[in-house]
Amino acid sequence: MATQSIHKIAVFASGYGSNFEVIARAAQAGEIAAEVVLMVCDKPSARVCSLADAMGVDKFVFSAKEYPSKADYEREIVSQCREREVELICLAGYMRLVGEELLNAYKGCIINIHPSLLPAFPGVNPLERAMEYGVKVYGATIHYVDETLDGGKIIAQQAVTYEGDDIEVLTALIHEAEYKLYINTLQKLLK
Ligand code: GRF
Repeated sequence: MATQSIHKIAVFASGYGSNFEVIARAAQAGEIAAEVVLMVCDKPSARVCSLADAMGVDKFVFSAKEYPSKADYEREIVSQCREREVELICLAGYMRLVGEELLNAYKGCIINIHPSLLPAFPGVNPLERAMEYGVKVYGATIHYVDETLDGGKIIAQQAVTYEGDDIEVLTALIHEAEYKLYINTLQKLLK
């Protein structure tokens, strides 16, 4: 019987970490051909840090202000990833623009999830802005990361229809869609 190879991945997050949790659980359950060998976070007090500890996932937590420049902290991130032989970086609520150091070290191997049907509503507060616009079909997108803000080539999308005006309900619907989309996408990418 052919054995499936397990890919080493890192998840980057800045806040709550529900996408990180879903990815790490899917990996631990063997639902994706991955091992989450590292969680990278730029906010020491973020919930995702304690979540990584609880799930037994190694973490690298940094404060950007403690480094002279983005290149300096990204060099450290690259070295943390290389040390663990990370093959794919999954951004999941990582609130920083990825710079040259990381992009060059992991060319074509960094993906991100964004809660809109890109190219509509890139950047911050996409749900609020879309609702304000009167959007009726929202969604989530997984795309390759390049030097632009949420502008890299699209890998997969999931539409979410919602005609109400409750941002919390919408956020919950989008999160549910994101979890499925990230797992389905990783299942395909890691084949
Ligand atoms: C998600 O909606 C993701 O699309 C966006 O940030 C949010 C992160 O949520 N980039 P969580 O930290 O995974 O709960």
